[in-house]
Amino acid sequence: MTARIVATQPFSDQRPGTSGLRKKVATFRGEHYLENFVQSIFDCIAAPAGSELVLGGDGRFYNREAIGIILGMAAANGFSKVIVGRDGILSTPAASNLIRKRNTCGGIILSASHNPGGPDGDFGIKFNSANGGPAPEKLTEAIYARSREISEYRIVDADVDIGKLGQSRVGEMTVEVIDPVADYAELMESIFDFELIRDHLKSGFRIRFDAMHAVTGPYAKEILENRLGAAPGSVMNAVPLPDFGGGHPDPNLTYAEDLVKIMYGEDAPDFGAASDGDGDRNMILGSRFFVTPSDSLAVLAANATLVPGYRGGIAGVARSMPTSAAADRVAKALGIPFFETPTGWKFFGNLMDAGMVTLCGEESFGTGSNHVREKDGLWAVLFWLNLLANKKIPVEQMLLGHWEKYGRNYYSRHDYEEIPADAAKAVIEKVRDSFGDLQGAQLGQYRVLFCDDFSYTDPVDGSISTGQGLRIGFTDGSRIVFRLSGTGTSGATLRVYLESFEADVAKQKMDAQDALSELIAISRKISGLVEITGRTAPTVIT
Ligand code: G1P
Ligand code: ZN
Repeated sequence: MTARIVATQPFSDQRPGTSGLRKKVATFRGEHYLENFVQSIFDCIAAPAGSELVLGGDGRFYNREAIGIILGMAAANGFSKVIVGRDGILSTPAASNLIRKRNTCGGIILSASHNPGGPDGDFGIKFNSANGGPAPEKLTEAIYARSREISEYRIVDADVDIGKLGQSRVGEMTVEVIDPVADYAELMESIFDFELIRDHLKSGFRIRFDAMHAVTGPYAKEILENRLGAAPGSVMNAVPLPDFGGGHPDPNLTYAEDLVKIMYGEDAPDFGAASDGDGDRNMILGSRFFVTPSDSLAVLAANATLVPGYRGGIAGVARSMPTSAAADRVAKALGIPFFETPTGWKFFGNLMDAGMVTLCGEESFGTGSNHVREKDGLWAVLFWLNLLANKKIPVEQMLLGHWEKYGRNYYSRHDYEEIPADAAKAVIEKVRDSFGDLQGAQLGQYRVLFCDDFSYTDPVDGSISTGQGLRIGFTDGSRIVFRLSGTGTSGATLRVYLESFEADVAKQKMDAQDALSELIAISRKISGLVEITGRTAPTVIT
């Protein structure tokens, strides 16, 4: 079968964002659009002939067609084998695991994560390198540069049934269709104490997991219900749908409303959790209790040695810059290093590869460890279940005990979605312009210690990333951060991150919005966001 060489024109908008290239489905379905980007990836990674690749996605609308195209292009570009999840399904952490386990040169993951799907929704694609992690900025920028000068791509017609396990061929290339769940479930069993969790569930500890009609349904059913014996029905919205049932597959208090109703209702289960479109995010709830992702990372770090996979201790902790400093306090107490990186999981890869950190987390419902090179939703759920089975206390008590020991970092993120790009930029400019006046200023009870535009020098390879968010730090450790999202597909999303620290146990039980109210008012004043955007309230508060 000979490859067709198809002449094409470059697109100017294929720059990957925080996590791969995300666009409306209609854009990806446009002639040559997906093909150009895939060929740009192949050109840049320059994998030697005979290399292997992992391929899968979160099952959203256009997943299957895209897989067909990519299989044809992989064959035409000299790959010897592509390992595909059955029906084109692989959660992001499962794909990361497979890349590592099978020693492939990398993998292509088709997902727009928590963005809505369906014909009018979003689609996305990203390349993960041989370590299983998202391509570093150097590579994503090279792919973008290539996409701006591409003039042809190579493809063969691929007609493979990816619904059936086993091997088949496209030209010279082998397509191996695998069970998307098995390897991942095995990895989880190797890290956590399944027997202990099973006993705890048997003793009456009740859980609910909301798969939000996204990719984790089959994973959660197999692991939580089949292997751990959670009551049938513990996994809800378990059937993955191409449009996620019309929902927004983002596990937070706004979008995981089915679960929230149950966890805040009469006779609520003891533990609730949800994951996102591609299975890398997690939300943890107790009965009538919400655990912020920043706190979750801190709790996992503080108790890691209770889990078999981390019994020997953790090497270090990393968090993205806007994530609260709760984990820093734990790291200090444990005497291990901690790192503050820009937003996006790709910045953790080097630290994990170098053995400098074991646990990583982001305030955006992302937690993970060096077992793969992606954040991992179900892993976080199992970690929590392992800890709760160990301690035999409710989720809320875990947190109260943690705050008592380390202090509480009140935390919240306010998102202003789909605002005109110009207005979003104007807000950022206004904050940046006020830096001179802000230095040392007293704002209500807060005194400004520093303000800057966050930049990061990777301690492993020395690469520098600038323009990663505006920080205003106060003398008592409180912070306000302004950042523009790099994952949206329409308009701009302005994120305002707010954090304050409370060491006094008597004052640790406030509602976060109340505790942060003065900082919220300061953030609005500094940025002029109400005047500039016309928005009086955030679209989403997490
Ligand atoms: C968002 C989150 C970020 C996360 C990314 C991918 O990016 O804020 O922490 O890594 O999604 O899940 P943003 O839209 O802020 O650029
Ligand atoms: Zn995701």
